[in-house]
Amino acid sequence: MNFELNEDQKMAQSLAREVAAKKIAPTIQEFDRAHKFDPTLLTTLKEADLLGVCIPEKYGGMGLDYISLGLVCEEMEYADTSARVIFSVHIGLNSITLLGWGNEEQKEKYLTPQAKGEKISTFGLTEPGAGSDAVGITTTAYQDGDSFILNGEKMWISLADVADNFLIFAWSDRDKKEKRDHSGISCFIVEKEFEGVTTGSIEGKLGVRAGNTGWISMQDVKVPKANMVGNPDEGFKIAMTCLDGGRYTVAAGSTGLIKACIDTSVEYCQTRKTFESELRNHQLVKEMLAEMEYGYQAGRLLWMKAGWLKNMGVRNTRETALSKWFCTDQAEKAAYNAVQIHGAYGFSDEYPVERFFRNSKGAAIYEGTREIQKLMQADYVLGIRKDKEARLSIPGYEED
Ligand code: CAA
Repeated sequence: MNFELNEDQKMAQSLAREVAAKKIAPTIQEFDRAHKFDPTLLTTLKEADLLGVCIPEKYGGMGLDYISLGLVCEEMEYADTSARVIFSVHIGLNSITLLGWGNEEQKEKYLTPQAKGEKISTFGLTEPGAGSDAVGITTTAYQDGDSFILNGEKMWISLADVADNFLIFAWSDRDKKEKRDHSGISCFIVEKEFEGVTTGSIEGKLGVRAGNTGWISMQDVKVPKANMVGNPDEGFKIAMTCLDGGRYTVAAGSTGLIKACIDTSVEYCQTRKTFESELRNHQLVKEMLAEMEYGYQAGRLLWMKAGWLKNMGVRNTRETALSKWFCTDQAEKAAYNAVQIHGAYGFSDEYPVERFFRNSKGAAIYEGTREIQKLMQADYVLGIRKDKEARLSIPGYEED
């Protein structure tokens, strides 16, 4: 085992850290207060080449590995969760799925501009009436000649109102829809520009206020057959592989949030005095800092193990789901404690910890709730759930 980061990984980490410190941190409080997505952020990330960090150079990316992707997510979420979410949907849920499941034409037409940051992408599985119960979706895609006609609504989609390309999951088989047989679900690349597609933003969110979250409505949208990803019966499996990518980025980002809680709290503890002594000298405060460190260090080992499996091209659903559960849980606890350490100041947005606290909540819900992750782990230990290889998967890391 080698726990050292290699030169490429260190480069990705320091590049992301620099971009986050210079371009996100200085303005994040303003955008968060205004519930506004920073319109310049995507251009900044594109110019830094980060939007294709782990996509091979052949398809316009930086050609780095999955640990580098995790490190970038960590640095982004250190600045703000909304920045990390871009990597979760654009790379974790969409681009790496196209890398694994897309055909050469799809990779050339969609993956390459996405990896270069010329087009932004996201993932549409969740609907107003179906979140954890992915088979409960009602969007349909029935064949009409050389096209499919899509009807339905996707909800709680990050970047819905900003992205150009969506991976949409829909029932293409009427009988299987009635029987809730997942092999009746197909996956399609849908462009925002296709006639019948409308998008909007969701207002009034508890957290990730500087992020764009929205809905996608499809009314009689004609999607060419060439835009079907994988085979007609593989949509559900593709959605699950997407989540193997997305959950990994959420886990890695969460350790960035924990680190932000640690650094902010340590700084506060060095200066703030109570009972004639700095906070750092009080044992109950020390306990909270120790618990943050525990979550940070153990969480990193979990997501890095999942990243290592991804680099080897080995199925990692179990490890990724566990890391997502642990890291998001620990981030929630760390943010809760960071507010506590800051006392009344933590209750105002004079300090960033109230934003960390609000932001930490979403990750225990999106990309598979804590409860879904727990059920998966229980089923693994009970032997009810076993991972078998799918026809295709996200490829391991190969140096360009
Ligand atoms: N890779 C490849 N194949 C997979 C797979 C994976 N990761 N996971 C499952 N499969 C395959 C299985 O092998 C199985 O294949 P066969 O039928 O050939 O045996 C098939 O898919 C069905 O698998 P399961 O039996 O595991 O399916 P299930 O119905 O038991 O799954 C569930 C239940 C785990 C709860 C699943 O529905 C789930 O993960 N739900 C949560 C959905 C979720 O996370 N939604 C969040 C959406 S994203 C978001 O919120 C953010 C945003 O901004 C877009």
